[in-house]
Amino acid sequence: MLRPTSSDATGAYYEVIQKASIAEILPGVRTPIWGYNGIFPGPTIVSTSGRRTVVRHRNQLPVPVVVHLHGGHTPAEHDGYPTDLLYPAGPPATMRRPGMAGPNNMAGNVAHGTRDYVYPLRQPAATLWYHDHRMDFTGPSVWRGLAGFHILHDPDEQRLGLPSGKHDLPIMITDRSFAADGTLLYPSLDPTLLHTPGVHEPYGSGVLGDVILVNGVPWPVANVPAVRHRLRLLNASNARRYRLVLDPAPTGGNALIQIGSEGGLLQRPVTHDAIEIAPAERFDVVVDFGRYRPGQQVTLRNEFGDGSTIPIMRFTITHRTADDTRIPDELTSSAIPKEKDAATSRTLHFRHDKVNGMAGWTINGQPFDPNISVARPKLGSTETWQLTSDFHHPIHLHLGHFHVLSRGTSGPGPYDHGPKDTIDLRPAEQARILVTFNDYAGRFIFHCHNLEHEDMAMMGNLTTVS
Ligand code: C2O
Ligand code: CU
Repeated sequence: MLRPTSSDATGAYYEVIQKASIAEILPGVRTPIWGYNGIFPGPTIVSTSGRRTVVRHRNQLPVPVVVHLHGGHTPAEHDGYPTDLLYPAGPPATMRRPGMAGPNNMAGNVAHGTRDYVYPLRQPAATLWYHDHRMDFTGPSVWRGLAGFHILHDPDEQRLGLPSGKHDLPIMITDRSFAADGTLLYPSLDPTLLHTPGVHEPYGSGVLGDVILVNGVPWPVANVPAVRHRLRLLNASNARRYRLVLDPAPTGGNALIQIGSEGGLLQRPVTHDAIEIAPAERFDVVVDFGRYRPGQQVTLRNEFGDGSTIPIMRFTITHRTADDTRIPDELTSSAIPKEKDAATSRTLHFRHDKVNGMAGWTINGQPFDPNISVARPKLGSTETWQLTSDFHHPIHLHLGHFHVLSRGTSGPGPYDHGPKDTIDLRPAEQARILVTFNDYAGRFIFHCHNLEHEDMAMMGNLTTVS
């Protein structure tokens, strides 16, 4: 957990240095990474709702960077728009232009050396995360290590009696591949990540790894007492989807009690035997290890995996001890918007298409262009968006959290509960979401969070106007 450099009536202040370093990820093997403070995952920042948090990022990497607080309700100028680049101090001329493949007028609001990201955090307790968001290069930058947790608490949530402290475990799941010399393998067209974006064929659908890391550690083991734990599951993988189960399941099933989604707590807990989680989704769950015997081994498994990607991590149950935590029937009473409040509806098609004669990923047939607004919602308004899909596309909106209204002709699916910022669209699926845009006018984005699709232009401007 990152300590603030200072903290006063105006907020809490943090500093993060982005730099290259060497990590020992596989035992005895040295792996070069890019990390926030040189570590992967980056340091966890813990904030309180409504208390301003300012993070000063210093860029000591050989490339420009952009930081996005994923799930944050953040003013546009601090949201990490993909061309709002933070260059290292004194950059060589060759990296002065973002999106080298694109037009010259793509430059956003650039900074050199350091940038202060100011987060008002006027939003409920939730599991947020921060990661790189540079135009055209998000996939390889996150793969090298630029991702970390930012956890938000609020007093209502802390009064509920949920497991906390040592029993509140952020779990960042990623897949990576390693070369024989220990380096991370990513099929970039340009390994300097400066000029040509994109990946070699046949990785255009998404880059997968064969080693599963939890918080940067391959297939770890955690010793846990036989009491309830809160697991903040985050899929921070570039493209891999998981179906998570506990093996063995506890007698009676319902191993995973979901209490929260990306945007915060659910109104009521929802029980699951399995959870399907797409890139960028978060499931905040409680697991009662008191349903197991001391000495027992419990594996978190991925039913969508094969071979090395089936096991995720293991829990060893240590001992029995008193458990004074609880899971209340009502977790939050915050109001949910109603469909009849929606003033506007939009249809967005997420699909593979030819762009200037080349294969790419598009929204309504168009690749990302920073100069075009795909959606211009009015500030303070609620809209329904109908999303269609040709493939697996985890669609993420900045600024506005949403609720899933339907999938095809049915209601929301089992993994659609609560306030969301990412929806797992499946092939040939059509879903409807209800989203409210509040507080901050300006240019935001929405995009596919399969990071290879995102880098191959499956992104659009979402510009809120007052
Ligand atoms: Cu996690 Cu726009 O991203
Ligand atoms: Cu996609």
